[in-house]
Amino acid sequence: MIILGVESTAHTFGVGIVTDKGEVLANAVDSYTSKDVGMIPHEIAEHHNKVAEKVLKQALKEASVSWNDIKFIAYSAGPGLDPALWAGYHLARKWAEDNDKKLVGVNHCAAHLSIGKVWNKLDSPCYLYVSGVNTQIIVYENGKYRVIGETLDIGLGNMLDKFGRVLGLGFPAGAKIEELAKSGKFVKLPYTVKGMDVSFSGILTKVEQLLGKGVSEKDLCFSVQETCFAMLTEVVERAMAHTDKQELLLVGGVGANKRFCEMLNIMCQERGAKFFKVPMDLAGDQGAMIAWEGFLRKDESSDIEVKPHWRTDEV
Ligand code: ATP
Ligand code: FE2
Repeated sequence: MIILGVESTAHTFGVGIVTDKGEVLANAVDSYTSKDVGMIPHEIAEHHNKVAEKVLKQALKEASVSWNDIKFIAYSAGPGLDPALWAGYHLARKWAEDNDKKLVGVNHCAAHLSIGKVWNKLDSPCYLYVSGVNTQIIVYENGKYRVIGETLDIGLGNMLDKFGRVLGLGFPAGAKIEELAKSGKFVKLPYTVKGMDVSFSGILTKVEQLLGKGVSEKDLCFSVQETCFAMLTEVVERAMAHTDKQELLLVGGVGANKRFCEMLNIMCQERGAKFFKVPMDLAGDQGAMIAWEGFLRKDESSDIEVKPHWRTDEV
């Protein structure tokens, strides 16, 4: 069985094609970027509409398949930006109607977890999901995802992007901050862990103040990374101890960060556990994960249109 997945929750429009064994046949993406202002919702929807046919063609070509080979279409129903979600839904629905395919709406966050799990062939990991919007520690228990720790304010990726905007790095900024951090030194920043939850907004305020006082950009980049990654590593270690998990799986765009992976890997090694991540092309937003999640959920109710605030633990 071959499934086509459509991703459109935020800046990326993607079409991925996977098999029922979780093999990725194609994963075409086109992302909206901007020099300074971050994401403007209606511009993102326009972007998705503009690139959709091109991305679809590219995916079909990459996978060497035609509509005849595709069993059904999965799309990201949420969570995400309202205009972006509707753009993706209408595109997916049109493709489904034109080609007489069933449509399955899936949860974007659950898709991040599922593609990481199948790619690494894991059984029951502790998930650390760190993207733009989301920062959550999740386990699967009794047929449901349970969020056992999360950010109390903004997602780590969004925080890095906001900081990047202050530095004039453009959007998204995570990779550029990682680059600058390589030659930075440590300055103390607020370290905010509350029980199993974390908070990043105080760090953002503090780095803006320190920047105004002349602390260098690279020192701030280094310190932001060290502090935020340490907070998450601490909470995840506790989560793994509480839930008795021997495997940690990092998913989401911030998972592209090498230093973050290094810290989590050391923590896992020290407790005799194993650290897993997903390859770069499956870490951020893309359609292959939507297709795979669609396969896993193919028998569930699909009459959902869009759900902008759909949480992982409601799946
Ligand atoms: P979600 O809807 O799942 O929250 P998203 O679209 O917000 O998804 P992703 O595409 O998973 O997020 O990740 C994008 C985020 O990853 C951006 O905030 C970006 O700055 C961050 N990022 C990308 N590369 C790096 C890196 N090397 N280091 C740190 N952050 C990174
Ligand atoms: Fe995402």
